[in-house]
Amino acid sequence: MARVLYPGSFDPLHNGHVEIIETAASLFDEVVVAAMVNPQKSASLFELEDRLAMIDESLAHLPNVSSASFGGLVVDLVRSIGADFIVKGLRAVSDFEGEMQMAQMNHAVSGFHTVFLPTASTHSFLASKFIRDIARGGRDVSSMVPPPVAQRLKVTFPR
Ligand code: PNS
Repeated sequence: MARVLYPGSFDPLHNGHVEIIETAASLFDEVVVAAMVNPQKSASLFELEDRLAMIDESLAHLPNVSSASFGGLVVDLVRSIGADFIVKGLRAVSDFEGEMQMAQMNHAVSGFHTVFLPTASTHSFLASKFIRDIARGGRDVSSMVPPPVAQRLKVTFPR
């Protein structure tokens, strides 16, 4: 049985993330989606508990997917939940360099491997930071995020 960890900031979750999670859920027995505190990023738009609530509501259709939140290292969470490896999505070549370096660092300190899944080209332009900017500017992002996220963005940035 394979259990995998899909970590990210998910500030907020978008349809590119959902696609990777659906793919992982079809390939592996269990997927744990973890909303992480990213020490490289300054203040987040949504609190960790709100990000987790949006993940739970948006992924309710996937019975082998569960969620977690964590403020430490990804490699410590992989070990503590008994996952076999880490899953990350790749949108474009530009993602590759940073993700490869993280995967190599995580492997060097823990022995855990990262498996990369390619994002569909229809989702390759999606990024949480752009979703935040566009929603803050009053534009509609409801085709790019799951309904529970669209709902919260409407409340956060009324048009
Ligand atoms: O969605 P993001 O912001 O690209 O996700 C990045 C994330 C949260 C997966 C990464 O920053 C991370 O792993 N943070 C936890 C701290 C950690 O393990 N750092 C070591 C990375 S080699």
